[in-house]
Amino acid sequence: MQLNNSIQGFSSNDPAHLPVLADELLNLLDPQPDDTVIDCTFGAGGHARRVARELHQDALFIGVDRDPVAKRYFDLFAQHQPFRCRFIHGNFAHALEDLNQNGIEADLIYLDLGVSSMQLDRPERGFSYSYNAPLDMRMDPAGKRTARELINELPAAELARIFKSYGEERYARQIAKRICIERDKKPFETTLQLVDAVKAAIPTPARFGAGHPARRVFQALRIAVNDELASLEQGLENAMSLLAPGGRLAVISFHSLEDRIVKQFFAARVGKCTCPPDLPQCVCEARAEVRVITRRPVAPSEDEIAENPRAQSAKLRVAEKLAQ
Ligand SMILES: C[S@@+](CC[C@H](N)C(=O)[O-])C[C@H]1O[C@@H](n2cnc3c(N)ncnc32)[C@H](O)[C@@H]1O
Repeated sequence: MQLNNSIQGFSSNDPAHLPVLADELLNLLDPQPDDTVIDCTFGAGGHARRVARELHQDALFIGVDRDPVAKRYFDLFAQHQPFRCRFIHGNFAHALEDLNQNGIEADLIYLDLGVSSMQLDRPERGFSYSYNAPLDMRMDPAGKRTARELINELPAAELARIFKSYGEERYARQIAKRICIERDKKPFETTLQLVDAVKAAIPTPARFGAGHPARRVFQALRIAVNDELASLEQGLENAMSLLAPGGRLAVISFHSLEDRIVKQFFAARVGKCTCPPDLPQCVCEARAEVRVITRRPVAPSEDEIAENPRAQSAKLRVAEKLAQ
C-alpha cells in the first residue's frame, strides 16, 4: 500500500476522520514543547497531529495501536515531525507495561477508545452491520478469536450475557436463542447473516426503532472479541505507573461501561477517606494519587456533533498524577 496523503481514500478533512473532542483534549492536556507523549490509540493520527503542533525537537512521541493499518498513518505523521517518533504495534495495556519496564516516564498519555473510521469503513474487517463481510471484528488481525468463532461456539447464556452487558441489548436472550437455532442449521459466516438473525429475533416494532436493530449486538461482540474492557482496566493501571509526577492521563470513551471504568479508576485514587464516620480519626491512610481535572466528563458541543455525528456519545475525563 502506498504511503501518500490518500491512504485508501484517507483525507484529514473527511468528517469520518475528524478527531473527537480534539480542542478539549488539547486544552486539558496542555502539552509542553519537550514533553514525552503517548497516544495509546493512534488510529489515523487525528489527535496526534493536533498534539504534535505544540511539540518541539526535544519531545518524544510514542504512538500505539493494535491495528497494523495504523502504522501506515503513523509513518505519514512521523515523517513531518522535528521530534523523535516511535510506533508500537499491540495492545496499549501491554505496550505501556513494556515502556514502564524500559524506564520511560511520560508527561502525557491519552486514549481515544473504541473502533476507528478506518476500521468501520473497511467492509472486509467485519465491524459494520451495513456491509456484507466475514464476521471478524478483530482490531488486530492476529488476535485470538473472531466474532464468527464466538457466535458459532459460545453457549446461549454466554452470548446473552455479552449482548446484555456490553450492548445493553433489551432482547439479548431472544437473540442468543435465535442464533443457536440458526447455527445448528448452518454456521454463521457473515455479518448480514447475523443482522438477519437479530431482526428475526426481535419484535417487529423494535426493527424500526431508533438506530439500526443490530447496532447493540455488533458493539457487544466487538467489545468481547477485542477484550476491550479488560484492556482498558489494565491500560489505566499501567498508564498511571508510567506517568511522571504532574503528568496527565486523558481518556475519551464512547459508552457508559467504558466511562464507568474510567470514572471509578480516578475516584479510587483521589484519596477519599473510607473510614466509618463514627471513628474519631482516620485509620485507612487514604493517600491522593491523582487530582481529577474534569469534575464532570466533558462532552462534545452541538456544533461538533452536527459536523461529526460519531462524536455524539463521547466523554472525556482527565486526571493529573500527584507527586508522592
Ligand atoms: C477511535 S480510534 C482512534 C482515532 C485516533 N484518535 C484519531 O484521531 O485518528 C481507536 C483506535 O484505537 C485502537 N485500539 C482500540 N483498543 C486498543 C487497545 N487495547 N490497544 C491498542 N489499540 C487499541 C483501534 O485499533 C483504533 O485504531
